[in-house]
Formats: sequence, C-alpha cells, structure tokens
Amino acid sequence: MMQSKEKIQNHYKQEAFTKGLSKECSMQDSYVRDCETSFIINEIDRYYNYNKSLKILEIGCGNGYLLSILSNKYKELDLYGIEFSKELYALALSRQLKNVNLINGDCREENCEEDFFDVVITERVLINLLEKEDKIVALNNIHRVLKEKGRYIMVESFNEPLANLNKARKELLLEEIDEPYHNKYFSESIKESMSMIGFAELEPSVKKNFLSTHYFLARVFHEVIRPENSTMRNTELVKFFDLALPDSVGNYSPILFRVFEKQLSTKK
Ligand SMILES: C[S@@+](CC[C@H](N)C(=O)[O-])C[C@H]1O[C@@H](n2cnc3c(N)ncnc32)[C@H](O)[C@@H]1O
Repeated sequence: MMQSKEKIQNHYKQEAFTKGLSKECSMQDSYVRDCETSFIINEIDRYYNYNKSLKILEIGCGNGYLLSILSNKYKELDLYGIEFSKELYALALSRQLKNVNLINGDCREENCEEDFFDVVITERVLINLLEKEDKIVALNNIHRVLKEKGRYIMVESFNEPLANLNKARKELLLEEIDEPYHNKYFSESIKESMSMIGFAELEPSVKKNFLSTHYFLARVFHEVIRPENSTMRNTELVKFFDLALPDSVGNYSPILFRVFEKQLSTKK
C-alpha cells in the first residue's frame, strides 16, 4: 500500500505544481468538469430543499475548486474537505474559504466523527485506491460518517463503459485508452459490496451515463477526424455536437454519476 500511496501522491504533487488553483487541475476536459459540478449541485439542491443545515464533506477535494463553488453558493452550510496530497491541501487552504474546514488526511483512515455528515462527495477519488480492499475500507468510512439517510454522491470511473469506448475506438482503428497508471476503475460488481456496506442506490437527478454522448464525441468521433497534432480537448467541434445532440446516448462514459443513501441501521 505504501508504494502505491507514494505513486499517487507524487502524481498529485506534479498536478499541484503544474495546474495550481486552476479548474483544469485533475480534469483537463472542461465540459466534463462543468457537468460534474452541475450534477453535484443538483443533488445537493434536491436535499437542500428540505434541510437548511446540511453538513457536507468532499473527500479528495484537490485544490478546492468544487468547495470554492459550493462555499459561494451555500454560504450558511458547513463544508468540509479531506485531501491527502499536502501540496493540493495547501492550495485548497490558500483559498481561505470561510465556511470550509479542511483536513490533510487519508480517506482510508477514520478522520471524522461517526454519523456526522448529511452529504459525502467523491469526484474521481476512490479510483486512486488501486486495491479493491482499500476501496471497500474507504466506502465503509463514508458509510460510517454519514447520518442515517445521508447521501453519498459518487462521481467515479467504471470499467464497463471504458470497454465499450474501446470497442468503438477499435472499429475505427484507434488505440485503446488504458486506465491511467494512478487509477483503478470500479466495476459494476461494486453494487453488491455497496448493499452489503448498507447503501441503497437512488435514481440520480440526471442519468448516470449523462456524459456518454460527450465521451463518444470527444474520444471516438473527434479523434477520427482530428488532423494530426491538432488540439485534443475542448474543441469547438465537440462543443457544437455536445449542444446539438442529446446527452446520455449509449454507455461510453467511464465517469458515472451515482447517488447512494445510507440505510437505516439494523444495529441496536
Ligand atoms: C482526480 S483528483 C480529483 C480532485 C477533486 N475532486 C477535483 O475534482 O478536482 C483525486 C483527488 O483525490 C485525492 N486522493 C487520492 N487518494 C486519496 C486518499 N486516499 N485520501 C484522500 N484523498 C485522496 C488526490 O490527492 C486528488 O486530489
């Protein structure tokens, strides 16, 4: 575990030095970033409507980009962030967000009080835990810190849609996209573990494969017609088709938008 922890921390140290406080830190595709942010806000708003005193935790908050948006939007709520890269943690701290408490820690450890949060968010974080056992430890921790009926907003990458994306790429003689060396994607089989931990999956506010059309456009269609050495990300062509086409077509987005609810405990 130590070796992989160092590998991940080195990766994010580089990310902190090269991207700083920018929105592109850990996500170069601004369409994906914006859709993730809107999804998370929609989910909080669904809950916020009937609860004005939410406690929200973002695990793996990186440079604090999402927390800065949430802090501005929900000025009266208590927000918390955990980040294990000390460089990214320092960047998040430097934002001096008023209603945000930051912890420099590891989500596999018990950093927070039990039954404390109404909402826990992970945005491409648990995929950095390369061993399945570590993912289970982190998911158990999320369950532990959530209040009963609290929501876990999960924005994480999955293998099955990546395989579909690669099938489409192969047909067009494009190279396969591998998982980055610092990631190990989830598999759909995690659903069984989630229910054993005590989570029930809820219908999200948008389809969980919301980004599918975009991934097909950006990683298949655009790559076929893109002139060699031309721009890969955030092109006008992809932006146009993102607007022109319906979202959620097919199952080509490794990143899925999911929501889980902590079930009422059967423990005495
Ligand atoms: C892909 S980045 C996403 C950051 C942020 N959520 C965002 O969207 O900008 C993953 C983040 O999770 C953090 N992270 C990875 N493993 C972690 C762990 N075991 N405990 C806490 N944070 C972790 C990384 O340092 C990094 O900041």
